[in-house]
Amino acid sequence: MARAAAVRYRCEACGRESLKWLGRCPECNTWNTFREYHPDRERTGASGDTAVTAAWLHELEGRREDRVSSGIGELDRVLGGGFVAGAAVVVGGEPGIGKSTLMLQAAAAAKLSTLYLSGEESPRQIALRADRLRLRDIHVKVAAETELGRINTLLSEQQPQLLIVDSVQTLFAAELGGLSGGVTQVRACAQELTDWARRSAAVLLMVAHVTKEGSIAGPKLLEHIVDAVLYFEHTENELRFLRAAKNRFGAIEEVGLFAMDERGLQEVHDPSSVFLVRRDDPVPAGIAAAPVFEGTRILLVELQALTVPAKGGVSRVFSDRIDSGRVSRVAAVLERHLGLSFSDQDIYVNVAGGMRIAEVGVELPLAVALYSARTGRPVPAHTIVTGELSLAGEVRPVRRVDRRSRTAAELGYGRFFGPAAARGEPRTLEIHEVATLAACIEGVFGRGTH
Ligand code: TYD
Ligand code: MG
Repeated sequence: MARAAAVRYRCEACGRESLKWLGRCPECNTWNTFREYHPDRERTGASGDTAVTAAWLHELEGRREDRVSSGIGELDRVLGGGFVAGAAVVVGGEPGIGKSTLMLQAAAAAKLSTLYLSGEESPRQIALRADRLRLRDIHVKVAAETELGRINTLLSEQQPQLLIVDSVQTLFAAELGGLSGGVTQVRACAQELTDWARRSAAVLLMVAHVTKEGSIAGPKLLEHIVDAVLYFEHTENELRFLRAAKNRFGAIEEVGLFAMDERGLQEVHDPSSVFLVRRDDPVPAGIAAAPVFEGTRILLVELQALTVPAKGGVSRVFSDRIDSGRVSRVAAVLERHLGLSFSDQDIYVNVAGGMRIAEVGVELPLAVALYSARTGRPVPAHTIVTGELSLAGEVRPVRRVDRRSRTAAELGYGRFFGPAAARGEPRTLEIHEVATLAACIEGVFGRGTH
């Protein structure tokens, strides 16, 4: 059967349809309102007047990748490849961590017309910071405006591509009750600016303080309003981490690394060795090196363990950087499979440089550090360990053993212990594939160790 003609005609005034063009609509009697349309391309809903459309996925994908660089590689990395037009991003962190510095550096580096709203510092103070950072000819407009109505006026005058708000806690809407910085005000102002960004395909960056007292009107409050929430955090050295707690446009595992010096935040592009403690032999007991993944990058870290007789007969685990449940579990596996006793010991675990580690590959090196601490036998120099540990004392595979071993070799390690290693391992590295914790301990410390 022949297909019906794909073309139809429809009155633009009342929606009356016809198979042929009509000069006057028989329904509403208006003239020249019939237009051609294609039912194949446009499926009408049951009511006949609601056009339901579907878009090509690959076209949407194209739009999803419509990103613009912040000009700062480490910030782009955490965002998932740069700013997305229309997106609202919150940057949270404790006072003094460097949020305003990051905002100003992004304002200078991004090739976008920028409006910087500052409720924290005067425009003069911001100019002084720009001088200090040697951001000479930056095209950024600054306003010390915090009232939402007046901000809206500014936005329609300036139509910035990037709006920076420092901080969201200083905003207030005159028509709303409550204090600026309070939950109602912060939420309403953030929502309105987020809507503005979406409508105008601009980028909104809002600073939100996190206070030690854990103020409720902080970044957490905004999580369901904005597209991304990034946290700026400290380590013990001068390094700062930028992590995403939420990111509608990218993964949340990627971490940005910065070092703060007198010229502002410097990007750390190759962080693999920044947490590494350089040691000549002998290495003290209780220390083990481990390659761990942080996002898509590998860091080599030093684990430190210490065991001392428990006070008051109750053994406890003190570990801020590695989950203490994980430490207890690894100690229990050592106890069960190597006959070491921890039940009368307090266990202290630390990671040099203050890195927090949640990756499973830390378990086997942690076991090695605990064994070393408990027995007083140091791990031989230039040894590095990776692997997950099962409760049965087996070494479980971890992802990308090949990259871990390559990075270890690059940084001067000579002996690598881990689950089945990948091919193409560096020649300079002696690779020991270990299937069990017992085999690992024997390999690292030598025969007759247990
Ligand atoms: P700041 O960006 O003001 O932090 P926040 O907005 O999160 O409160 O900067 C924090 C600290 O960084 C401040 O104590 C001074 C220091 N700093 C430097 O060390 N070098 C610099 O170039 C700048 C601008 C700041
Ligand atoms: Mg600030």
